[in-house]
Amino acid sequence: MTEPDRSRRGFFVSLEGIDGSGKSTQARLLAERLRATGRAVVLTREPGGSPGAEEIRRLLLTGGADRWSPETEALLFTAARRDHWERTIAPALGRGAVVVSDRFADSTRVYQSVARGAPAELVDALHALVIGQEPDLTLVIDTEPAAALARGIARGTDEDRFETMGLPFQERLRTGFLALARRWPDRVRVVDGTRAPQEVADTVAGLVLAALEGR
Ligand code: ADP
Ligand code: TYD
Repeated sequence: MTEPDRSRRGFFVSLEGIDGSGKSTQARLLAERLRATGRAVVLTREPGGSPGAEEIRRLLLTGGADRWSPETEALLFTAARRDHWERTIAPALGRGAVVVSDRFADSTRVYQSVARGAPAELVDALHALVIGQEPDLTLVIDTEPAAALARGIARGTDEDRFETMGLPFQERLRTGFLALARRWPDRVRVVDGTRAPQEVADTVAGLVLAALEGR
């Protein structure tokens, strides 16, 4: 990957999980807790996190379930991620900030490949060529698919393309996220997301602060 400034003086945390698992809530609480310790924090999300990537987000999250094939989705999510990396994440890491991202490349591995069937070789090769970066730490917020889906649908936004794919789809996603922790045991940790938000946040903050202090 052509990367003018790959210096990563900061720390990059991603939060992952199925739709409605509580990632956005946890990302916000983590950012607040880290800021309270005096650290510079950039809170961001995927798809999105930069103006161009937010435009691609609309294409991906609205419309019917069969609007895009899983292969096309992998390309669009990766295009959005490249812009997010160039414009938001890499500069923030270069300044020494902690970047907290609500989803990153693991979502493409799980949604487009494990759950939707795009070949893993395609997703892995695209990532290696175009992004070539992993978070320092990834926390999977693990919850029951039925409860999480009900929470997500209750939000009632029009960005529900993946939520309309149903409960068996969410169950495949959960299996995929748990498998990530076995593939990358050093980077990916699973957090029990079925507890009250502040309790989940205590665990999340504990893991992140321990990783930051252990560097
Ligand atoms: P995600 O970003 O994973 O889709 P959100 O953080 O947006 O999840 O949470 C989805 C819904 O569930 C929101 O209405 C939120 O208030 C609620 N919620 C978040 N965390 C919890 C929790 N630990 N227990 C119960 N409800 C939660
Ligand atoms: P998000 O806004 O986090 O949705 P939710 O709050 O429902 O969890 O993410 C938008 C959707 O995009 C979500 O259903 C997951 C999907 N997605 C992918 O399929 N692949 C990806 O690479 C990313 C980043 C998200």
